[in-house]
Amino acid sequence: MVKICCIGAGYVGGPTMAVIALKCPAIEVAVVDVSPLRIDAWNSDRLPVFEPGLDAVVKACRGRNLSFSADVDRHVADADIVFVSVNTPTKTRGLGAGKAADLTYWESAARAIADASRSDKVVVEKSTVPVKTAEAMERILAHSGSDVAFQVLSNPEFFAEGSAVQNLLCPDRVLIGGWDTAEGRNAVRALMDVYAHWVPEDRIVTTSLSSAELSKLAANAFLAQRVSSVNAISALCEVTGADALEVARSVGTDHRVGDSFLNAGVGFGGSSFQKDVLSLVYACECNGLPEAAGYWQQVVAMNEYQKSRFVRRVVSSMFNTVAGKKVAVLGFAFKKGVCDTRESPAIDVCRGLLGDRAHVSVYDPLVSEKQIRRDTAAAPAAKVEQVRVARDAYEAAEGAHGLCVLTEWDEFRTLDYRRIFDGMQKPAFVFDGRNVVDVGKLREIGFVVYSVGKPLDAWLEVLPAVA
Ligand code: NAD
Ligand code: UDX
Repeated sequence: MVKICCIGAGYVGGPTMAVIALKCPAIEVAVVDVSPLRIDAWNSDRLPVFEPGLDAVVKACRGRNLSFSADVDRHVADADIVFVSVNTPTKTRGLGAGKAADLTYWESAARAIADASRSDKVVVEKSTVPVKTAEAMERILAHSGSDVAFQVLSNPEFFAEGSAVQNLLCPDRVLIGGWDTAEGRNAVRALMDVYAHWVPEDRIVTTSLSSAELSKLAANAFLAQRVSSVNAISALCEVTGADALEVARSVGTDHRVGDSFLNAGVGFGGSSFQKDVLSLVYACECNGLPEAAGYWQQVVAMNEYQKSRFVRRVVSSMFNTVAGKKVAVLGFAFKKGVCDTRESPAIDVCRGLLGDRAHVSVYDPLVSEKQIRRDTAAAPAAKVEQVRVARDAYEAAEGAHGLCVLTEWDEFRTLDYRRIFDGMQKPAFVFDGRNVVDVGKLREIGFVVYSVGKPLDAWLEVLPAVA
């Protein structure tokens, strides 16, 4: 019986291993983590990760061939294949701060494998890491002082949050990078055999180690670049009277471009895009490629511009001051369907409004009050009473001067906007950062409406331009 251990019971490690356990009943899968709290949550009825379909998968396998444990050493020692799925955030201090990936957690996992192993193992990089990290992993493992042989593979994860289980069950591709040696090819084959339980072989792509590592960063950079490209177009649409939705639809019908990932909005968020583009920028800089670094840096710069442009639009529309005014914020998660707020554009927009002394009243169907308070606490000079968390959209908007839509939750499309209008101060402003509302209908009700990438409301056109 093959035994798998995964170090890191996070957003990726938990769901990925649960699906492997589901599809491979003859493989024993143990997910381990240094955080006993996380492990307790995985062993409870309230999983630490919210993903549609995940509860059912975990229930079907936990106690059968899937376990969660804080005993890292024991499960690593027992395993034939060890996945490393620890966090690789952007470094906040020291060399490369603000861009380079922080490999502290990755290195501690590598050392744990080196120390605990008594038998040969295939070690699989699941975390998103800088190119050539697998080679660094091999150096740590090679110096473990034992006779144990390790083969390192790169097998990056491409699922998107909110559709993790569906993406894992039916992936566009599974990417496996390894050395082109007899041992390397054997290791690749062993991992292919795991995925082949449910993934068609033509969807399992094999490459060199470095290509696999770089492909993950490149895939996220390309996706983020599409969002920044359409957001750059949205700024031009607003001042020329073109409509970013129409432009995106027209451009996307060219099959060479494709129609997904062309929604203009208040900017991209999530735990991956910014961090991975910055990691790519750092790799270019370190390898003497300043022009390539500058190109990718601009994807992040465009995203920052889109968020700050939105805040400037809100403030300038409301007569250049939001001090003491109530602004309703609908949506706080980085996209619909998730409770994750990591790098959510809503955080920066709220901070910008709070910095201008607005009072924000936030409603999100999934994000907890504790999380919203934590994310807004660091706003410059903001006072606790400037932030309220509402139970629904109507409560958030009651008495507000303006309303911002910052996450594209479906329920925001079908709100009773007449009721919301009646409860708001006049003129009542709506700022739609996600192209969710029916602009024409809202204008008929009497709202002054701004929607990213749409021709400007006549009301806004007479105000000073926003750059
Ligand atoms: P996460 O923070 O949710 O989980 C990481 C877990 O690793 C934490 O529970 C942490 O306690 C644990 N950990 C850290 N060091 C450890 C150690 N030495 N031993 C045991 N456990 C340790 O992170 P995540 O979102 O699951 O991301 C993991 C990796 O996958 C990252 O590199 C990320 O870039 C990548 N990734 C994430 C997504 C996503 O949607 N979240 C998608 C694709 C790839
Ligand atoms: C992303 C990648 O899609 C996934 O393949 C990778 O494994 C992890 O990173 P995720 O961060 O979960 O997944 O979300 P995604 O759906 O890609 O959205 C990222 C951000 O871009 C969100 O804030 C979303 O609102 C924004 N976005 C996306 C747009 O603004 N417009 C779009 O057209 C698409």
